[in-house]
Amino acid sequence: MTTVAVTGAEGFIGSHLVEHLVAHGHQVRAMVQYNSFSSFGWLETLDRDVLDSVEITLGDVRDPGSVNGLVKGSEAVYHLAALIAIPYSYQAPHSYIETNVTGTLNVLEAVRHLDIPRLVHTSTSETYGTAQTVPITEDHPINTQSPYAASKAGGDRLADSYHASFETPVVTLRPFNTFGPRQSMRAVIPTVIAQIAAGTREITLGDLRPTRDFMFVKDTAAAFHSVGTAPAEDVVGRTFNAGTGGEISVGDLVTLVGKLMEVDLTVREDEQRLRPTNSEVMRLVADASRLRAATGWTPGHSLEQGLEKTIEFFREPSNLARYKTDLYNV
Ligand SMILES: NC(=O)c1ccc[n+]([C@@H]2O[C@H](COP(=O)([O-])OP(=O)(O)OC[C@H]3O[C@@H](n4cnc5c(N)ncnc54)[C@H](O)[C@@H]3O)[C@@H](O)[C@H]2O)c1
Repeated sequence: MTTVAVTGAEGFIGSHLVEHLVAHGHQVRAMVQYNSFSSFGWLETLDRDVLDSVEITLGDVRDPGSVNGLVKGSEAVYHLAALIAIPYSYQAPHSYIETNVTGTLNVLEAVRHLDIPRLVHTSTSETYGTAQTVPITEDHPINTQSPYAASKAGGDRLADSYHASFETPVVTLRPFNTFGPRQSMRAVIPTVIAQIAAGTREITLGDLRPTRDFMFVKDTAAAFHSVGTAPAEDVVGRTFNAGTGGEISVGDLVTLVGKLMEVDLTVREDEQRLRPTNSEVMRLVADASRLRAATGWTPGHSLEQGLEKTIEFFREPSNLARYKTDLYNV
């Protein structure tokens, strides 16, 4: 049984990745961001038999000592910890640099000096900005339209530089928009589903025109595992898009969710949810053929199948109770 380390383990994608890794026979060291409530985030909701294979440590990626302690002796590190909300990155950009850039530097340094055989670094499709050509391949220009995107691209460039300079065995996964159970209401799909599940029929949203390539979180977790376990010569030193190749506008997505939940909706555009015009990414759709060719990964859920599972999650009152559906969650 191999031991792997995960940062951002208590978050949305991280908690699904932990489940996936345990299901595939790994022992997981999970970093949960230190907090005075001793909350383990979504890890608290995992099955007991999953948690039997998970060692939780409270820490912070901004602190080199806590990163070293986490990764020491592991076979692979999955680095997902980040600040992710675009609107909050307008308000608190310094914290994005500290977490997403310096935090990534700390992980790279630990992996380099402790001779960890594989690091999977997490990028984001937001680093591409509005698509200049579609579908977006890994050769598409990087155009960072928000402080969040810039901080993630900074981490990506550091990862590339560590591979070039020190042969650090890093592979970068660049997921497109991921959705599913446990996602926060900072993202559009939980925002729509949770509002409906809470009884609202007038949905409040930002711009309805942008299109996205939405991928179900279990497929994202499998993509992480695929690059974490593929032969080094196939993946190390490379960047891989992870997405479905499908595309839907936010407006059409709301219509689809309304249909699946069998409700008539009206949508109200809320000024405070609009990004500044030049910061809005209007179009993202993935070409993931490089990942498919290198690892054989392929998404296993259609958009509708993923939405059904997400709706089921939010319809469960104990899950919905964890959300503040009447607030704009920045
Ligand atoms: N959700 C998406 O659509 C999407 C798409 C592309 C890339 N990503 C990337 O995937 C990763 C996970 O995102 P998510 O959607 O699960 O968001 P999330 O907010 O649920 O997860 C991020 C996790 O990082 C942790 N974290 C934040 N600051 C930390 C710090 N200083 N030290 C330690 N931990 C810290 C948070 O507590 C949280 O658990 C991020 O790197 C994000 O940029 C997400």
